[in-house]
Amino acid sequence: MAFILTSSLLASFAAAQQIGTFTPEVHPPITYQTCTSFAGCTTQKGSVTLDANYRWLHTADGTTCNPSGFNRTICPDAQTCGETCALDGADYAGTYGVTTNGSALNLVFGNGGARVYLLDSTGENYVNFKVMNQEFTFDVDVSNVPCAYNGAFYFSEMPPDGGISETNKAGAAYGTAYCDSQCPTGINFVNGMTNVDGSLGSCCNEMDLWEANSVSTQLTPHPCNVTGEFVCTGSGCTNLCDPSGCEFNPFRMGNESFYAPSSSATVDTTKVFTAVTQFITDNNRADGTLTSIRRFYVQNGKVIPNSVVELAGLPKVNDITADYCTDKMNVLGDSTAFNQHGGLAQMGKSLARGAVLVVSLWDDLGGGMTWLDGLAGDASQPGTLRGPCTSADIASDPTTSVTFSNIRVGDINRSPSQPHFGQCGGQFYEGPNLCAEPFSCVYSNPFYSQCL
Ligand SMILES: *[C@@H]1O[C@H](CO)[C@@H](O)[C@H](O)[C@H]1NC(C)=O
Ligand SMILES: *[C@@H]1O[C@H](CO)[C@@H](O)[C@H](O)[C@H]1NC(C)=O
Ligand SMILES: *[C@@H]1O[C@H](CO)[C@@H](O)[C@H](O)[C@H]1NC(C)=O
Ligand SMILES: *[C@@H]1O[C@H](CO)[C@@H](O)[C@H](O)[C@H]1NC(C)=O
Repeated sequence: MAFILTSSLLASFAAAQQIGTFTPEVHPPITYQTCTSFAGCTTQKGSVTLDANYRWLHTADGTTCNPSGFNRTICPDAQTCGETCALDGADYAGTYGVTTNGSALNLVFGNGGARVYLLDSTGENYVNFKVMNQEFTFDVDVSNVPCAYNGAFYFSEMPPDGGISETNKAGAAYGTAYCDSQCPTGINFVNGMTNVDGSLGSCCNEMDLWEANSVSTQLTPHPCNVTGEFVCTGSGCTNLCDPSGCEFNPFRMGNESFYAPSSSATVDTTKVFTAVTQFITDNNRADGTLTSIRRFYVQNGKVIPNSVVELAGLPKVNDITADYCTDKMNVLGDSTAFNQHGGLAQMGKSLARGAVLVVSLWDDLGGGMTWLDGLAGDASQPGTLRGPCTSADIASDPTTSVTFSNIRVGDINRSPSQPHFGQCGGQFYEGPNLCAEPFSCVYSNPFYSQCL
């Protein structure tokens, strides 16, 4: 049964988490760009904020409210807990390994990684990206992300204000209101309510632009049949979303040398590269129906089309369409939940409403992240090998780190490409960074790179 927030319930949760002041909250600043075909790119000043669950939650005297789950002496019920416990500021670099520099965001795994959200220039709201009929671009360095780790960069349909309210004083500035297509039940504060007994789930549409390490990568829409952040309870949390999604993983789709840590791979993951994702609609407008999610890469100044599916029985495509997802269900036995939840069109409706950018670094050393980088299923069946990792490759490495930079959103196909001798980079330069074939972008000085 869905959780319905009535006014009487609201009254009974009159106080949720407070704001703590042991550590001042200083959001690491980051720039990103918004681009149009006519006006070029404009640099925006944003910042990142740490997810509320990662923060220290404590009483006024500094006792942790949730040493391992909520301390039921401090938190016998949601109201008492909310009145007593405060979310504190984060020591980003020291405790969480989160640093920024210009347009770059670096996450170091350390004691357990981090999950951060992009805030707008006010520092009080998440940026609400609307990417229909747009392309979204970022540079990524995955060279230091091994098997069973995942440097993720994705959209969730979270409330842009973080659900700030009478019962949630902290809001987006403190990273509240996380939700995703797994409907996680471990979120401490859900819609202004303290989730003391873990009975509340937080569901929303999720579009994974990037889940990857240095050996495997996945692009995945996860539609839900709910709008915005939807709070569920118990069995009411099942079947609201597609937790598996309709993924595109070049390795799984038959090309094991497309994306690999090698100079002979098509995309060499030992070096930084650019990933471009385009959201194509049926009418080439933002109000159209989502018909294709396209990916291409740029490395060493060269545009690299996405790998082409090479599995028997599947058509040779290199984008995510409704047909690709249905074919994959039929041929590989993938979950039908994608279509049951409205498929690509439903994903598009969510993206049209807008989504928050989530960046995280996480691991699964226990189970292995086989859905991304290993054998998930029976080896004799097609499409079960998603990457080269085996249990022998899994080892704890706190120095694991990922860097995302040069985040850009704007009109489709604005990027390619500059002609021979055209400018393609340099400080203060905001035009296209790509060169027409067969030219490459060559650095000449800090203010000028040229297509040669
Ligand atoms: C729970 O909180 C009470 C009251 O502050 C404290 O005495 C007790 O040690 C705490 N329990 C744990 C497991 O931290
Ligand atoms: C930040 O980036 C600039 C330009 O790339 C570089 O010169 C500088 O060393 C970096 N600063 C830090 C602290 O990494
Ligand atoms: C992998 O993709 C690259 C680039 O598209 C292509 O040149 C190569 O032939 C593909 N390999 C296989 C095994 O499909
Ligand atoms: C969501 O989709 C599932 C699967 O088709 C269905 O069982 C459920 O009733 C739907 N829920 C809503 C709220 O539409």
